[in-house]
Amino acid sequence: MSAVHPTRGDEPMLDPLQPRLYNVVYCSRSAPGVDAADVERIIASSRRRNPAYGITGLLVFGSGVFFQWLEGPRDSVTALMETLKADPRHDTVVELCANEEVRERLFPEWDMEFVESADIREVLLDALDDAEDPKSIAALGVLLEHIDGSTPDTE
Ligand SMILES: Cc1cc2nc3c(=O)[nH]c(=O)nc-3n(C[C@H](O)[C@H](O)[C@H](O)COP(=O)(O)O)c2cc1C
Repeated sequence: MSAVHPTRGDEPMLDPLQPRLYNVVYCSRSAPGVDAADVERIIASSRRRNPAYGITGLLVFGSGVFFQWLEGPRDSVTALMETLKADPRHDTVVELCANEEVRERLFPEWDMEFVESADIREVLLDALDDAEDPKSIAALGVLLEHIDGSTPDTE
């Protein structure tokens, strides 16, 4: 490994041998007719496939919107994103953020966890709290508006 991760201030020392983690968060709109049974099939096949590629994360589905958090090796996540973009069960895939760093997984135990639709608003509001890129903030605003039928208060 050639990556150098100097210790700054009181940040903990990162192990340079620890692999980098690539993380992508996206939202999309489900295709007409996609229902809970389709989502169950997506989760089941994701749980079968993701461990082989070192991918973990979560999938939220509600109000016709998917929200997925993917983390794993860059090549695996990038390849999955290409497959996902071509999946006819959704469209309008909006990548909210993508980054790579040496850090621990947020969801090490979740090959692909389904988050209840009742929680989607909270998950999107949390993402809005953390978002810094104006494009991500705008995209999250559109999704929240889609869910609420009103413009969220982002002040
Ligand atoms: C919203 C959504 C999320 C998905 N998440 C995953 C995933 O985490 N892992 C996965 O292997 N496939 C996932 N899929 C399914 C893939 O698009 C694809 O169908 C699957 O990887 C099988 O690909 P193949 O038919 O080319 O073998 C997801 C599909 C959708 C619509």
